[in-house]
Amino acid sequence: MYTSASDLMAAASLSSPVLRVTSLAAYYGELRAIYDISLELQRGDVLAIIGANGAGKSTLLRSLVGLMNQGGKTRTRGVIEFEGQRLDKLTPDRIVDAGVALVPEGRRLFARLSVEDNLLAGAYLPRCRPTIPAKLEEVFTLFPALRERRRQVVSEMSGGEQQMVAIGRALMSSPKLVIFDELSLGLSPAMVEEIYKNFARIVASGTTTIVVEQDLKRALSACNRFVVMLEGSIVLEGRPGEVSEDAITAAYFGTTAAHKAGAAHG
Ligand SMILES: Nc1ncnc2c1ncn2[C@@H]1O[C@H](COP(=O)(O)OP(=O)(O)OP(=O)(O)O)[C@@H](O)[C@H]1O
Ligand SMILES: [Mg+2]
Repeated sequence: MYTSASDLMAAASLSSPVLRVTSLAAYYGELRAIYDISLELQRGDVLAIIGANGAGKSTLLRSLVGLMNQGGKTRTRGVIEFEGQRLDKLTPDRIVDAGVALVPEGRRLFARLSVEDNLLAGAYLPRCRPTIPAKLEEVFTLFPALRERRRQVVSEMSGGEQQMVAIGRALMSSPKLVIFDELSLGLSPAMVEEIYKNFARIVASGTTTIVVEQDLKRALSACNRFVVMLEGSIVLEGRPGEVSEDAITAAYFGTTAAHKAGAAHG
């Protein structure tokens, strides 16, 4: 069958990864917190990162958005490419400009500013200014509670409401890749439901996402791919349903399936 050059190029761009991480390592001074991390995401992928406290999940996310490369004692090695552009040499601002936004662990909002001012802080780049009204409307449609409370000071809001503001702030920059660190940690069960409903909407809009989630079942039901991190590296990766929960738990704790079977029988 005849295939034109433009067909070939379209096919190549469809199948080429939107994010490619190659042999990434990150250091706090002498401490190498992550190493030998390689992964590829296709457009629309939802990647869950699973791992115990201290496994290096946040360090990986911080590396992706340039926060480990701002001088001082932290640094990274390896290559991060997003839509063919090298991110590992860019400042955090330029990485937001390239279309990558982080909802950080602990939210990091401006506690004394209003909901609206926090949202506007996510749209500080020149390219975001023309779309501010439309983006605000999008965030308020996603989180109607924020529309009613747009003038409220963030420190007076519940943890779940603050998480909505943090997510909304990230969306204000029209990201193509959104990264969530500890999406539901510390929230009430009802609020976790609410946040995940909105997460599903964000995913359904075609946004590529990475999510760190403590709740294993929740993580596996929300993602189409996962990696398990242990002591700074990826020890298991796969797709939910293709790998048993036992194998995932064993990777999480660093015990092999054989060890577990031995312990159970002996
Ligand atoms: N600011 C820092 N200075 C020095 N070491 C750090 C710093 N932040 C993290 N580390 C170390 O880097 C390693 C990875 O930490 P990281 O926060 O990435 O793990 P995590 O998987 O996100 O853990 P948690 O589930 O507790 O959030 C740990 O050994 C941690 O002690
Ligand atoms: Mg963390």
